[in-house]
Amino acid sequence: MSVIDQVKERLDITELVGRHVRLQKSGRYLKGLCPFHTEKTPSFYVFPDDQRWHCFGCQRGGDIFNFVMEMNGYDFRTALEELARQANVTLREQSPQEAQTESEAERLRALLTAAVTYYHTLLMTAPQAAHARAYLRDRGFTKSTVETFQLGYSMDAWDAGRTHLIGQGYTVEEQVKAGMLIERDDGSTYDRFRDRIMIPIHDRRGRPIAFGGRVLQSDQQPKYLNSPQTILFDKGQVLFGYHLASRAIRDQDAAVIVEGYMDVMIPHQAGFRNVVAPMGTALSEAHLAQLQRLTHHYILALDPDAAGVHGTLQGLETARQTLDRSWEAVFDPRGLVGYEGRLKADIRVMTLPAGLDPDELVLQDPARWEALVAASQPVVRFYFNHMLAQEKPDEPKAKSRIIDAMLPLLNDIGDSIEREAYTQEIAQRLGVDARGLLDRLRAMDRAEAVKTQVAVRGTTPARTPTDLEAHVLSLLIRMPDLKSRVDALLTQMDLEPLGEDDFPPEYRLIWVVWAHQAEHPNLELADSLPSDMLELVEAWHTQALPDMTPAQWERDIARTVLRMRDRLLRQELQRANGNLGAAKLDNELEVVAGEKQTVMRISDALRKVQSALARRSALG
Ligand code: UTP
Ligand code: MN
Repeated sequence: MSVIDQVKERLDITELVGRHVRLQKSGRYLKGLCPFHTEKTPSFYVFPDDQRWHCFGCQRGGDIFNFVMEMNGYDFRTALEELARQANVTLREQSPQEAQTESEAERLRALLTAAVTYYHTLLMTAPQAAHARAYLRDRGFTKSTVETFQLGYSMDAWDAGRTHLIGQGYTVEEQVKAGMLIERDDGSTYDRFRDRIMIPIHDRRGRPIAFGGRVLQSDQQPKYLNSPQTILFDKGQVLFGYHLASRAIRDQDAAVIVEGYMDVMIPHQAGFRNVVAPMGTALSEAHLAQLQRLTHHYILALDPDAAGVHGTLQGLETARQTLDRSWEAVFDPRGLVGYEGRLKADIRVMTLPAGLDPDELVLQDPARWEALVAASQPVVRFYFNHMLAQEKPDEPKAKSRIIDAMLPLLNDIGDSIEREAYTQEIAQRLGVDARGLLDRLRAMDRAEAVKTQVAVRGTTPARTPTDLEAHVLSLLIRMPDLKSRVDALLTQMDLEPLGEDDFPPEYRLIWVVWAHQAEHPNLELADSLPSDMLELVEAWHTQALPDMTPAQWERDIARTVLRMRDRLLRQELQRANGNLGAAKLDNELEVVAGEKQTVMRISDALRKVQSALARRSALG
């Protein structure tokens, strides 16, 4: 039984959903108010017999995994990990090393949870925290926001935290590892955080992993002291507020990215909950990888000072380089087909009034925040205006610099009509000929198409993606042990083991990442695949498997692989024969000789595959 089935067997959907929705019995079903859209009469149903749920109002539905994904904004992997934990199912045999790291991490998370409670209680009750309470009040925090974010206060002392955590059973060594204590050269230690507002930082699942501590007096440095890098906390990866924002990001299908802690918390308090912030670093690939599971619409809230503009542009560059690209066929005059990536993301920039951070703006005028979000500019226009302000656009040299900077951005616009419209707009404002720009864009298309083609190796003919490849991949991914058995079977028939050449570009990336994963158990499919491919893989995981023995599966997969190769080789043969004929007509003797070799090579391979296919007995 797969781990997914084990988890499903051990958890009850009624109980799981019942934690979030008040359910009433209605015949053989249960119903309640849908947690995913607003409604007055219940159209949300749970079907205990099938262990499924469905809302007839918003048409969402699925099994326990989909429920947890929708409810918490988790990706499939996180939902699986979380539910497996609840069901006490081990996802994968861990190496002793991994098991030890995980148990250490578990211990440190418990330590941090104890610290969160400790600081929070101090903030809420300690007489020594009166100035901290006043500070938060002055900055506009309500008690409920302080609760939501579990804000706290660290005492103005060198060892108050250490003493408390020792009392809770955590050693000094563990506290150092968790980043709570600083170790001097002589081995003695002291509290890292003293007399600060404590802001817990959580992972995607809402477990505490670090703290940010803000000073209370403006003359103290640094303004924010953060936990150091630990086994739980990687500063460049974390988005502050993610666990509280993910649902809103998914529901509103947009994420607002701000710069700081306050800029997340105060908008959240005002009901703008789709807001996250990197930890004082530029937007990284890891940040975007997390967000693109929830939405493809990003709004960067920009600090109007120069450093802010610079930071945003840097963030945009990261976004351009890393965001999901959808694969799009490109034809060039020679009839070759390539694939080129275009951004599957809508990035906008929101400009804030000078001197106002998002938290201040929201406190002053929540409606204005909404208006500015709505008025955020597409990045192309933002960037263009920025260039216009930087350069003297009347000078020909400046014009060409601006155009060089704009072309890659224009090229990334997924929608071709939009792409042309912006190109026209820019040409018009610079007073240049739009046709020239469009020609240059098309030239970039072709260059990229050729590049990508080389990257996916060789002269891949235009193969139609079919279900054969998906069938093989989806089975292997769910039953990884089968790969070596299938390879053995293929080798036995004197055929090549499965390899990346068996998969067309649409599936090759999935294969490559998956095959790689076998050697590197820490590599996560989820972190390495664009989200549309990931969705496909996740969908495979949820499909029920017919009940067959490993030997039956093994033959089923091998047979499918042979059919894939048969089809591919016949296409290649046809193409090679076509080339051969053309070369003969043109009297290109070298090409003729080369193509003859190719035709022979393909024919041999095809014969082998076909005779294996004919040997029915071996394949059941
Ligand atoms: P800012 O200096 O813009 O602070 O830093 P802020 O968010 O506006 O904070 P307030 O409103 O003055 O309280 C932006 C972010 O950079 C990181 C923090 O994550 C902060 O929220 N930062 C800043 C640090 O980590 N350390 C610092 O000393 C300063
Ligand atoms: Mn601020």
